[in-house]
Order: sequence, then C-alpha cells, then structure tokens
Amino acid sequence: MATVKINKIITIESNPSNTLLETMEQAGLEPEYNCRDGHCGACRCTLLSGEVEYVGFAMAYTQSNEILPCICKAKTPVELSDVNYQPKAKRA
Ligand code: FES
Repeated sequence: MATVKINKIITIESNPSNTLLETMEQAGLEPEYNCRDGHCGACRCTLLSGEVEYVGFAMAYTQSNEILPCICKAKTPVELSDVNYQPKAKRA
C-alpha cells in the first residue's frame, strides 16, 4: 500500500490493484473523469512526487509532470496536485 496525497489536503491509501482514479473513488471522493481510458484528459492532474505505473495507453495530451489517474497506479507513495474532485455528497 502506498499513500496518495491529494492537493496537499487529503492523504489516502492506494490499493495496488486499483488505478489512482478508483483509489480516490473508494476513498469517498468524486474525481472528474469521462472516458476512464486515457483518451479525454478529464482526469489529468500533476504528479508532484513519487512514481506511477501506467496500465493503459495515454492518448490525452499531458505535460511531463502530469498524469492520467484513470490509467495509472501508484508505484511509490505519490503526491498529486490540481486534482479536480468533489467530496461525495453527504446524505442527510
Ligand atoms: S478519464 Fe479520460 S483520460 Fe482519464
């Protein structure tokens, strides 16, 4: 298990069998996504530190410090910024 720090606010544990997008969802966040397959770039965020492993082919444009969480997993503890997400809406 590697830790995933998001926008310097939240730290969650990654499950090695899940992509970073799935990891965020399981932690109760609602990160932005569309294709979940590396095409659209909706999930794009910045990798501040750590290493990720791609499990799919990135078709969307990324800068050298950006990743697509829908198709990569954490290889080491990672720190991400510019993640667009909503906390899951709490039901009253
Ligand atoms: S959701 Fe489309 S590239 Fe990640």
